[in-house]
Amino acid sequence: MDNKKRGTKISIIGAGSVGATTGYALTMSGLVTDLVLVDVNKDKTEGEALDLSHGAAFIKPVNIKAGEYKDTQDSDIVIVTAGAAQKPGETRLELVSKNIKIFEGIIPKVVKYSPNSILLIVSNPVDILSYVAYGLSGFPKERVIGSGTVLDTSRLKYEIGKKLNVDARDVQTYIMGEHGDTEFVTWSLTNIKGIRIDDYTKELNYKYDEKFRTNIHENVKNAAYEVINRKGATFYAIALAVRRIVEAILRDEKSILPVSTLIQNYYGINNIYLGVPAIVGRNGIEKALKVSLSENEIKKFKLSANTLQEVLYKSVS
Ligand code: NAI
Ligand code: 2OP
Repeated sequence: MDNKKRGTKISIIGAGSVGATTGYALTMSGLVTDLVLVDVNKDKTEGEALDLSHGAAFIKPVNIKAGEYKDTQDSDIVIVTAGAAQKPGETRLELVSKNIKIFEGIIPKVVKYSPNSILLIVSNPVDILSYVAYGLSGFPKERVIGSGTVLDTSRLKYEIGKKLNVDARDVQTYIMGEHGDTEFVTWSLTNIKGIRIDDYTKELNYKYDEKFRTNIHENVKNAAYEVINRKGATFYAIALAVRRIVEAILRDEKSILPVSTLIQNYYGINNIYLGVPAIVGRNGIEKALKVSLSENEIKKFKLSANTLQEVLYKSVS
């Protein structure tokens, strides 16, 4: 295909709640000219593609198609949101065997038609499935990205912003590690637009103590359970998180986002996908950044890695 003439093509595998809402966020973003949805549930996929297409008068032109794998040919990015989702009370890790099987069917077909694409994995458990997709695809690690803790970090910024009555976008911080129950807050890196959080809270008379930190961490860690218990699934915030990652890639922004990436020589951890701050641009993950963590945070990072390594070992052996 003539590179000069072509636009930007994104395919989404899995047109359930997350896939369809991501499609919606992407059509509104103006970043995409071609959007292909693929799902085993053909009727639903066609319905979603039609519904999205009917917004044509209000958005920049996007060619939206409910298709087969051959229609995904030459995608710039393939987003995978297919697979089982958590039922109320279920953990992300409990989805692992079902979703690995589903990925074994999906990833080779994606690779066949878009060998130069970037894979953006969203299905859970996202860190494990990103690692599985990395293995199945044979792509370099830079081109297999998990949505990681981008969503959780937004939840954290929301929680801190709400507690300190400040714009969430001015909160600089990360959730790192597993997108799941062992994730942790990097309090040692947290600041409000460059002002250390302990100085900021002192100046504005907020109590910044263990209780404050535990409460926020618990709210973030349990956020998905709270939403799933009430409405069955989470999809709006993850769709915006995915849109943000896509934007960083397509516009070659070199943005620092806590995506899930292959960890090598990171506090002694190797060969596992985990959420760490990384520079994201047109080539995918341009660099995973080794940040200075406190002793306690390093312990938590290692716990996340060990937990995932155990699950991975059990599910592939
Ligand atoms: P859903 O059940 O609404 O949609 C899943 C879709 O996958 C269904 O439409 C189903 O037909 C499709 N599917 C199943 N097997 C397939 C296959 N072999 N090929 C193509 N499509 C297939 O679930 P929902 O709520 O959209 O969640 C999707 C995934 O995203 C889940 O694993 C969920 O845990 C995960 N998720 C991840 C988040 C993150 O931060 N990484 C946030 C929210 C959800
Ligand atoms: C979320 O954090 C369920 O992983 C999903 O919303």
